[in-house]
Amino acid sequence: MRYLTAGESHGPQLTTIIEGVPAGLYITEEDINFELARRQKGHGRGRRMQIETDRAKITSGVRHARTLGSPIALVVENKDWTHWTKIMGAAPITEEEESEMKRQISRPRPGHADLNGAIKYNHRDMRNVLERSSARETTVRVAAGAVAKKILAELGITVAGHVLQIGGVKAEKTAYTSIEDLKRVTEESPVRCYDEEAGRQMMAAIDEAKANGDSIGGIVEVIVEGMPVGVGSYVHYDRKLDSKLAAAVLSINAFKGVEFGIGFEAAGKNGSDVHDEIVWDEEKGYTRATNRLGGLEGGMSTGMPIVVRGVMKPIPTLYKPLKSVDIETKEPFSASIERSDSCAVPAASVVAEAAVAWEIANAVVEQFGLDQIDRIKENVENMKKLSREF
Ligand SMILES: Cc1cc2nc3c(=O)[nH]c(=O)nc-3n(C[C@H](O)[C@H](O)[C@H](O)COP(=O)(O)O)c2cc1C
Repeated sequence: MRYLTAGESHGPQLTTIIEGVPAGLYITEEDINFELARRQKGHGRGRRMQIETDRAKITSGVRHARTLGSPIALVVENKDWTHWTKIMGAAPITEEEESEMKRQISRPRPGHADLNGAIKYNHRDMRNVLERSSARETTVRVAAGAVAKKILAELGITVAGHVLQIGGVKAEKTAYTSIEDLKRVTEESPVRCYDEEAGRQMMAAIDEAKANGDSIGGIVEVIVEGMPVGVGSYVHYDRKLDSKLAAAVLSINAFKGVEFGIGFEAAGKNGSDVHDEIVWDEEKGYTRATNRLGGLEGGMSTGMPIVVRGVMKPIPTLYKPLKSVDIETKEPFSASIERSDSCAVPAASVVAEAAVAWEIANAVVEQFGLDQIDRIKENVENMKKLSREF
């Protein structure tokens, strides 16, 4: 499967075209809108999220709620577009209109794509960069992830994203009773944290950062349960599932690091405290006594839960401005703000969940794919049976 996204932050709409989705999958606009609403929530989001109520429209590839096997096109309108038709329209404008707009951006914001993008594409108006580099694009990544999650649900694979840390506050209670419980509790938390007390402290940390005109980042975790053994491969570098997952998480705006299982902690430990011993029992077949490697060995799923973590830097647009240089005057200035979130870690956990779901669904469809969801399901069930009996 593959997908492309298109659309500017204040353009008329965001679009994704998803190709290679098996036929026969039950999906509705409501399934996608449910995920889009999850991305919009979270303590610390700015005014833009109050303006937009993201709703996806399926414009091809689905008939009577079943996928056809043909490309699926999804569009999400930007409500704010009505205020931007002149500034962001595709039609030509006169020089006079251009000077009237006075909305040329010549002041790059530190931590954003503004300056590098402007130099790279020779844009004197940095709006041409920020409109596309904006995390508004993650809306349609979540839409594509919603389709992936529908595929995975059919195959008994569950994906759940949640927040482990915001600023200096870490979740202490992280051991969840079941993935369903994890999903239920984090869905009710304004910061998507399983540890309610830590969640309260996270909200206070966000409020404090906001009051100081600052921003904070954090760590999100995505868990995938119900994986068959052997998804991905050790035979070639670009088939390793962990490398694909890492790239997917790092491709999310503001994500700066990825780890699996105990991750970077492994550096300071002995091998005997890192590797997971293999055990066998009649009912489950082969499992691991622990899951410190996060469900991945040799670039393949072990059948244990996949545990991926990503670190998000604090949002770069600050009400407390950072120094930068105007590209027209070469004079220093303090970077002013566009509407901005003070913390988007809760929303980013939904985006990370979608990105991981996409990679897992893609790898599973590639490995077990037969163009039809029911036959993929049969193949996955056979694989699960085979590995139990192996
Ligand atoms: C869900 C989400 C929302 C974001 N919201 C904002 C925001 O309101 N303001 C901002 O400056 N950056 C925001 N970002 C981060 C920027 O998009 C990102 O830092 C920027 O595009 C530069 O890319 P880089 O940090 O990956 O280098 C957000 C990121 C995510 C994932």
